[in-house]
Amino acid sequence: MKGGCLHRLIVSKLCFGLVVLLTVPIVVLLWEGAPVLTIFSTRPEQLKALSHGTLQQQEQEHLGPGLPGPASTSHTHKNCNYAKGRWVADDKRPLYSGNECKQWLSKMWACRMMRRAHFSYESYRWEPQGCEMPEFSGPNFLKRMRNQTLAFVGDSLGRQQFQSMMCIATGGKYSPEVEDVGWKYGLVKAPGALRPDGWAYRFPETNTTILFYWSATLSELEPLNTEGAVTSYALHLDRPVTFLKKYLNSFDVLVLNTGHHWNRGKFNGNHWELHADGKPVGNGSRLADLNRAKNLTLHSIARWMDSELTRHPQMKVFLRTISPRHFVNGDWNTGGTCGNIIPLSNGSEVLQDHSIDIPAESAVKGTRVKLLDITAISKLRDEGHISNSTFKKASTGINDCLHWCLPGIPDMWNELLFAQI
Ligand SMILES: *[C@@H]1O[C@H](CO)[C@@H](O)[C@H](O)[C@H]1NC(C)=O
Ligand SMILES: *[C@@H]1O[C@H](CO)[C@@H](O)[C@H](O)[C@H]1NC(C)=O
Ligand SMILES: *[C@@H]1O[C@H](CO)[C@@H](O)[C@H](O)[C@H]1NC(C)=O
Ligand SMILES: *[C@@H]1O[C@H](CO)[C@@H](O)[C@H](O)[C@H]1NC(C)=O
Ligand SMILES: *[C@@H]1O[C@H](CO)[C@@H](O)[C@H](O)[C@H]1NC(C)=O
Ligand SMILES: *[C@@H]1O[C@H](CO)[C@@H](O)[C@H](O)[C@H]1NC(C)=O
Repeated sequence: MKGGCLHRLIVSKLCFGLVVLLTVPIVVLLWEGAPVLTIFSTRPEQLKALSHGTLQQQEQEHLGPGLPGPASTSHTHKNCNYAKGRWVADDKRPLYSGNECKQWLSKMWACRMMRRAHFSYESYRWEPQGCEMPEFSGPNFLKRMRNQTLAFVGDSLGRQQFQSMMCIATGGKYSPEVEDVGWKYGLVKAPGALRPDGWAYRFPETNTTILFYWSATLSELEPLNTEGAVTSYALHLDRPVTFLKKYLNSFDVLVLNTGHHWNRGKFNGNHWELHADGKPVGNGSRLADLNRAKNLTLHSIARWMDSELTRHPQMKVFLRTISPRHFVNGDWNTGGTCGNIIPLSNGSEVLQDHSIDIPAESAVKGTRVKLLDITAISKLRDEGHISNSTFKKASTGINDCLHWCLPGIPDMWNELLFAQI
């Protein structure tokens, strides 16, 4: 089935959306391979644990209730838990039209442009408990971000959040004045590549830049056996992706995400080999090793960001928690579906105080990196995925229960981001 999907890659963008990181980054990574210094070191016991597979699954940490929220005069409530609250119906949503935002929305995610009968997922707003939410709109966002740059770095779910933000910032209206500044960040399509490694756009009126850079693991990839054909890559769990190190100085708000590529399929398909402290560790064919590897990367990047924040105290850095999948009766390549169309059929509230993304929450603990916690909230919205919708004449037979329709759930992620910047 996987082979079949890869084969159909040429013709099927849905298929492409699902397997994209299995195949695409090879081209991308070649120029990222320049040797770089290890910026932070990994504690020896961690490496030992990773290579010997002995790290104990830790109990969920009890992070304490945090400080009570002070009466804040700014629009942000720093100690408010935005992830706790409920979905409420709101006929002022969505924030832009899925029929109009063609300039920024990928065809494969624009469900309004597809054969799909149900759009009720569009008309809800997240209401955090006891937090005052600033009014989220394109003009308010741009005003807030005057002379500033918002960068998303992550996988295709990060790209979804980026496209959502472009649509919100422009109100979904055709905006010829918005300037393509990808070249400033090296984001140009390489010869033969399907697309560039990312995109960057500048709004001239407020001098605001929004950009996305594709990095599925947030880690540096280094081609191995560079003599002759490159066959595999060292994935340096303890070194942030080169792009971040290069351009961090120009970011004011940074949103990182990773998660759906830490599986055997992607590692084998991309020939990624786990490295830490410059040496091979673990085995990408073992799930336990991949979980530990992801955890190590999350902790490493949070600590590195924290050290960078000493030099850039004005910068705001968020680690976005994992976006939930909703495949039932199989996985993406074994006939799994997400056919429910009734919103909030599993309830509308999140009541717990902690994130259900434990590795992400523990990674930012004790650092100045903030958690953009969207996991439990999004988990309630299984009807908002692409599902079996398609813009093609014939169905591919594959359901996408990973990516979301736009407008849709990632708009809320941006609303929670806006409330915190
Ligand atoms: C994740 O990594 C941190 C830091 O290296 C470590 O303290 C923790 O035990 C790890 N958690 C798991 C579940 O491996
Ligand atoms: C934006 O930058 C311009 C040029 O540097 C400056 O004149 C202006 O005051 C800045 N605006 C804000 C809100 O910082
Ligand atoms: C735009 O903002 C950047 C900072 O992000 C600043 O360096 C630059 O001078 C600004 N340009 C204008 C024309 O205001
Ligand atoms: C990794 O694990 C797989 C399956 O357990 C095994 O076939 C393979 O030889 C291992 N690779 C290394 C480099 O140890
Ligand atoms: C998607 O699945 C639903 C049933 O879950 C079906 O009614 C609909 O026709 C399907 N749409 C497409 C485009 O195949
Ligand atoms: C709804 O909740 C039940 C019980 O917790 C769970 O088994 C099921 O997977 C949930 N369904 C969805 C679509 O999240």
